[in-house]
Amino acid sequence: MKNNCLMNTYSRFDVVFDHGENCYLYDTNNKKYIDFVGGIAVNSLGYSSDKLKKAIANQADKMLHCSNLYYNEPQIELAQKLCDNSCFDKAFFCNSGAEANEAALKLAKIYAKKNKSKDCFEIIAFKNSFHGRTTGALSLTGQDKYQKNFTPLMDGVKFATYNDIDSLKNLVSKNTCAIVLEPIQGEGGIIPADIEFLKEVRNICDKNDIALIFDEVQCGIGRCGKLFTHQVYGVNPDIIVLAKALAGGVPIGAMLAVEKFALAFEPGDHASTFGGNPLACAAANVVIDEILNSDILENVKNMSAYFVEKMNALKNKYNFIKDVRGLGLMLGMEVGILPKDIVSLAYKEGLLLLSAGANVVRFVPPLVIDKVTTDEGFKILDKVLENIKGE
Ligand SMILES: Cc1ncc(COP(=O)(O)O)c(C=O)c1O
Repeated sequence: MKNNCLMNTYSRFDVVFDHGENCYLYDTNNKKYIDFVGGIAVNSLGYSSDKLKKAIANQADKMLHCSNLYYNEPQIELAQKLCDNSCFDKAFFCNSGAEANEAALKLAKIYAKKNKSKDCFEIIAFKNSFHGRTTGALSLTGQDKYQKNFTPLMDGVKFATYNDIDSLKNLVSKNTCAIVLEPIQGEGGIIPADIEFLKEVRNICDKNDIALIFDEVQCGIGRCGKLFTHQVYGVNPDIIVLAKALAGGVPIGAMLAVEKFALAFEPGDHASTFGGNPLACAAANVVIDEILNSDILENVKNMSAYFVEKMNALKNKYNFIKDVRGLGLMLGMEVGILPKDIVSLAYKEGLLLLSAGANVVRFVPPLVIDKVTTDEGFKILDKVLENIKGE
């Protein structure tokens, strides 16, 4: 199949995927791949959830789209579920992680303009972070490689050092309207926040009436063992942004906020044609129900321990593996060689992996993965690492 008409925005593998089953993907030649990528933390229910497929088919039969000038039931239900199971009071829906970050930025800014001062528009984000590719979200992304060709970006963003409270304190001023962070930096290399750091950030925000925004686009929705990762830490943000796994593979984004901030938006301040689309929300309702009412979170806990055990066994065997870290099924293996070499050799052997940052191999499999599939994947990975060691 020719793909010359696709814009050159990804370094793609030379493969066309056709379908998935459980935690496996099949290409158009019916070659089977073990999937430790899950569409980059998207396909949390794997590829064989009948409930998800049925909900999407039923909703497609009823109504694909409905303007936000009106209500639709799946959207109301989803907002209710997300708020009932969190500290948040209101939801705004959109279509991607970047868009959810844009919504959060606007909410923090309008709150500060209305309640603090017109000059209170500064945002503090973190070095090594990733928040998306739209101009606002890119402005928060503390990595030169993503920003350099697109400057000037949004004004008023400062970058602190992750997990370093003094570096953050030095940047806080009366004009800070928001602090935004990933509870686990994903693209930056699977770096979990320290709990004490998060608690201190929360205190700073409380003392200074600053909106604390958590970007859980990658780490949220069950991936770290609870519905939201901040629930694992026991530190609540004021605003959270979600996307990726929320609808199990149907595009969606969401921004949830506590009432104090949420009330700053009035009709006309923000909107999205497709946001809260009934098809996406019908899918998301299944994902949330499955996470809350099935044994998925238990599986995440058990399989996380299993992955870590396997990763540590490899670390003991290969001295170029420097560290094993992460939470739940968002795990990383820091290596002293190029992670992309491991990823491409594994791909050839039928195992899908991806890198994170400059030196980490990332594991973000579907949350329903089992031991048999995991064993198969690690057998391939061991073989790949053995070959690399022998070179
Ligand atoms: C933490 C985080 N925020 C935001 C985004 C951007 O999401 P999207 O690609 O849906 O715009 C990503 C994507 O990887 C992410 O990992």
